[in-house]
Amino acid sequence: MSSRRNFIQQSMLLGTLPVTQWDLDRQKKAAPIVISTWDFGKYANQAAWEVIANKGTALDAVEAGVKVTELDANNQSVGYGGLPDRDGAVTLDACIMDHEYRCGSVAALENIVHAISVARAVMEKTPHVMLVGPGALQFALENGFKTSNLLTPASEKAWKEWLKNAKYEPVKNIENQLYQPQNSKVLPGSRDNHDTIGMIALDQHHNLSGACTTSGMAFKLKGRVGDSPIIGAGLYVDNEIGAATATGVGEEVIRIVGSHLVVELMRQGLTPQKACIAAVERVVKRNPARAKDIQVGFIAINRKGEYGAFALHDGFTYSVKTAKEELVLQSDFYFKK
Ligand code: GLY
Repeated sequence: MSSRRNFIQQSMLLGTLPVTQWDLDRQKKAAPIVISTWDFGKYANQAAWEVIANKGTALDAVEAGVKVTELDANNQSVGYGGLPDRDGAVTLDACIMDHEYRCGSVAALENIVHAISVARAVMEKTPHVMLVGPGALQFALENGFKTSNLLTPASEKAWKEWLKNAKYEPVKNIENQLYQPQNSKVLPGSRDNHDTIGMIALDQHHNLSGACTTSGMAFKLKGRVGDSPIIGAGLYVDNEIGAATATGVGEEVIRIVGSHLVVELMRQGLTPQKACIAAVERVVKRNPARAKDIQVGFIAINRKGEYGAFALHDGFTYSVKTAKEELVLQSDFYFKK
């Protein structure tokens, strides 16, 4: 039996679709569209879609969408309930970008749930792009954001457990059982993974926007900032071409300015899928040994509403919402067994 038939049969036995092939063969095109990282993106997409369906802007949609994830205490990699740094403080990174190259970002923000809304306020109310740490908090307070304790008992417990060994090692995908796939097109055999939420959307006015928000690497060094709040790394939007966002170990995404790279590759004529593949290949080329041990994933859309995704390793999922469908898909990946 050919290995491909074997793969399909095994997938069917596991109750999974041969999505790698299915993804590539499928006409992945729709507008308006909302797409976000990971299976939990499905719930964020629903909130974003409410905005889009009511003829709202992609900018409002992506903010509303990722706020759902920021508020979800069960999601230990974004917003409230995020895993803290090694000193026990939950610090948030977020950025937002619209169709006119306007962008705003916050890094190492503490005690404010909706980092994405602070990032949007930076974009709309200041001449700057990025505010960090105490300055970002001061700005948030001056603009009416309320403080709260973001460290939930579950995350505090995980941190105390981690302190016993205090091993500082990123893992490929943080697995948990919090999000059970519900959509029939989900791969029931897939792992549930956790990381940054990045969301990109194309609205009914043919405008693109994106948002990206995270509590960053669990138990990170104090002051560590990943790719998520860095325009061009964690997120990039060019309304003439498309948009991309990233998830995974931010250091490797920053090194290749990943999301900007994906958009520039689309500018050169690559489909979103091929652009994501090329960006992941760049991560591997830069440091093949490192790439074997970590996860990085990209999602992208272009102005036509075509979309794609690719990751270093198995286990990366992404969520798609259009007028016709709501999907959670298994991303194709580089390191095949
Ligand atoms: N991609 C999230 C981070 O590295 O912080």
